[in-house]
Amino acid sequence: MPVWLVLPVAAAALVWPLVPWRARQASPCAGDLRSPPPESVAEPDLYCMALLPAPRVLDAGGVAELRRPPGPFSLALTAEGGIRYRVVLTTHGLPAPAELGAYTTYVAWVAAPLLSSVERLGEVPSSGTAVLGEVSLDKFLLLVSAEAGPDVAQPTGPFVLRAQSPSSRMQPADFLEFVLGASSVAAGESGMVMPAAPAADGWGAIPMPAGITMLPALMALRPRVTPWRPSSAGTVVDARPRELVPLADGDSVDLEAVLVRRRIGDRTILGYGFNGQIPGPLLWVREDATVTVRFTNRIEWPTSIHWHGIRLDNRFDGVPGVTQEAVLPGERFTYRVHFPDPGIYWYHPHHREDVQQDMGLAGNVVVESSDPRYYGAAHREEILMLDDLLIGRDGAVPYGLERATHALMGRFGNTMLVNGAPGYRLQVRPHEVVRFLFTNVSNTRTFNVSLPGARMKVVGTDVGNFEREAWIESLPIAPAERYVVHVQFPEAGTVPLLNRVRGVDHVAGRFVTEQDTLGLVRIAGVPMNDSTARAFGRLGAHDAVRRGIDRYRTRFDDPVEHELELDMRTRDLPLVVDRLMQVDSAYFHPLEATGTMPMMNLMSTGDEVRWILRDADTGAENEAIDWRFRVGDVVRLRLRNRRRTLHQMQHPIHIHGQRFLVLAVNGVPNDNLAWKDTVLVPVGATVDLLLELSNPGRWMLHCHIAEHLEAGMKMVFTVEERGVPR
Ligand code: C2O
Ligand code: CU
Repeated sequence: MPVWLVLPVAAAALVWPLVPWRARQASPCAGDLRSPPPESVAEPDLYCMALLPAPRVLDAGGVAELRRPPGPFSLALTAEGGIRYRVVLTTHGLPAPAELGAYTTYVAWVAAPLLSSVERLGEVPSSGTAVLGEVSLDKFLLLVSAEAGPDVAQPTGPFVLRAQSPSSRMQPADFLEFVLGASSVAAGESGMVMPAAPAADGWGAIPMPAGITMLPALMALRPRVTPWRPSSAGTVVDARPRELVPLADGDSVDLEAVLVRRRIGDRTILGYGFNGQIPGPLLWVREDATVTVRFTNRIEWPTSIHWHGIRLDNRFDGVPGVTQEAVLPGERFTYRVHFPDPGIYWYHPHHREDVQQDMGLAGNVVVESSDPRYYGAAHREEILMLDDLLIGRDGAVPYGLERATHALMGRFGNTMLVNGAPGYRLQVRPHEVVRFLFTNVSNTRTFNVSLPGARMKVVGTDVGNFEREAWIESLPIAPAERYVVHVQFPEAGTVPLLNRVRGVDHVAGRFVTEQDTLGLVRIAGVPMNDSTARAFGRLGAHDAVRRGIDRYRTRFDDPVEHELELDMRTRDLPLVVDRLMQVDSAYFHPLEATGTMPMMNLMSTGDEVRWILRDADTGAENEAIDWRFRVGDVVRLRLRNRRRTLHQMQHPIHIHGQRFLVLAVNGVPNDNLAWKDTVLVPVGATVDLLLELSNPGRWMLHCHIAEHLEAGMKMVFTVEERGVPR
C-alpha cells in the first residue's frame, strides 16, 4: 500500500469500532467546549479530544480540553520534555451511574496506549465540566468508567467514554516500506550516525539522528543551492574564549567580525568571532549607560550588529534595509547604544544569521541594575550561552550560498555548546546558590534545561524580572530568549546540566527520547550555610516589577488590535517529500524540539518553503503588512499559530525596540508577568501579548528561527512620535 494511504486506514482502525460513523465524524471541541472559548486556541484539533460513547450509552459524549497549566513559560514541560496538560472534561448525556449497575459515580482515567499504565484523573459528572488532573504522556487514552465510589484506585466498572490523544494520530508508515526502504547507515559520533558513503556533491555526509530510519529517496535529496563553507585563504586566528569588557557610561569599544579556527572536541572547523572570541566579548554596562561600539566587518559577507532586546535609538538597531545599509566586507559602522533596562541581552548580525550567528557571531550584554539586590541573593553568577552546531564527518555541514538551507525546521545541530564549547564544567560547594543567566543563540533549537538533584527557581527573563520567583523543574528556552534562574546545589556529588526533550520520529509515527549532557557541576568542599543558602527555600517577590506592571492592568481586557496568523506555504517540493509531509500533517506536536527529518529539512530553502506572518484583518503577508502606532500606545496583539499546511512548527516571535507582556497562552491567563521581547508560540496555539510602544522608529517583528526569518517570516511596523500627524 502506498505510504500516504496507510495512515488514515490505520487511524480509522483504531477508532472505537462500534461507534456509528456519524459520531466518528464529530468535530473535536465543536459545540461542547465552553471554557476557554474555542477561538482562544488556534487549532482545537491539537488541544481537544472528542469523547466517544460505548455502545450501551450511545447518546452520551463529550470533549476533553488539554489546557496549559499556568506557569512562566508558553509550554509547560516536564524535565524529561513531555508536555504537561491539565485535562478539562465536559460530558453530556451520561445516564445516572446506577442505571448501568451497582455504580454511584463516573471517574476519568488516563492510560498509556496499550493500557500498560492507568492513572486516575478525577470524578466527572454525568453532564457538565470537571477540571481534572494533569497528563504528560506522549500518546494516551482518556477513559471514563462507572464506579462504585469516587476514590477507586483502578477502573473496575464499565467504560462509557473514551478518547485518544491528538498525538495518537501519528502512526507508523507501512512496515514493508521500511524493510525495503531503510537506508544503510553506519554508526558515527555524537549520538548521530553517518551514511556509509558521503556523497561527492559538495554537501558531504549529512549526520542522521541515531535510531531514526530514513528512506533512500530522502537520503538522496540535496538543496537547490550552492554548498558554501568559508575558505581559509587569508587571515585566520585561533578562536579564544570570551573576555569580560566592563564599560562605563560614555565608553567606547571596538568590535571586529573575523574568521577564526574553532576547536570543537577533537576537530577543527572554521567559524566567525567578534574580536576572535566565541562567544563575543561579554559587555558589562550599568543601567542607563550609553556606549559607543565601533564595528568593523572583516568577514566575506555583508553584515551588521543587532542589539537584541535593547530599546535603543532606532538608527542603531542594526537591521540592513530597515535601519541601516549592510556593512560590506572591509567597511565600518559606529553604533551608539543606550541601555535603559537591567537584564541579560545579546548582540548578533542581522544578515544571513543562519550562517553568521551559527558560525559564532553572538555575544552577551549584562545590564546591571542600580539596585544591588535586583535579582535577590546568590553566591555567584554564571552567564551561559546555549548553542548547537551541525557537524558531519568532514566538518561543518555546508550552508546555502544563495539562500538558507533547512527552511522547514531550521538547522538543528548535533553538537551542543555552552559558551561556544562542548563539556561545560563548574565546581560549587554544597548548598551553594548559583545565578545562571541563560541565552539561547541557536538557530532553531528550543532547549529544555534541567539540573537533576538541584533545586531551581526562575527569577527573570528577557527585559527584567518576573513579578515573583517560581519553582521550576526545567527551563524551556527558545531561540533568542533569556532566563535568569537561581539554582541551589545539593550536599555532594555531580549534577549534570541536561537538555531532555521528546523528539518526533515522523516516519515511524512515534516519540523518541533525546538527552544531551551540556555540562557537569561538581559539588565539593565546605557546605555553604550563610543567609543566602538558608533563604533559598523561600520564593521572593519583585514588588517593583509588579508595581510597574500595575498601570497596564486596566488594558489587559482591551479588544485585540491586531491578529497575526503564523503560517507556511510550500511549492516545488520533491514528490517524496510532499507525500511524506501530507501523511505527517495528521498531527503536529506543539514543540518540535529536535531535528528528526535531516534530509527533508536540509533540502528545503526559501524557494520551496515560505513562512508567513499574515495580518488576519487585511490578509497582508510579511513585508506587505504596514502597522502604524504612536509612542505611548499600548496594544493587544494576538499570535495564532496555524497548521493548515504541510508542516507547522513553534515560532519564537521577536519584536525589536519595544517590550511586551505575555497575557495568555491558549486563553489561559498568566498570573506572574514579566517584560519580554521574544515569545515562543507553540504549534496550533494562540498567544496574547500586551505590546508597549515606547520607542519611535521602524522596527521588525519576526520569527527568531534563523531559517524561518530567511524564508520570509518578518515584517516591519512604524512607531511615530507623538504630535507627528499619521
Ligand atoms: Cu535577535 Cu531581529 O533579532
Ligand atoms: Cu519560525
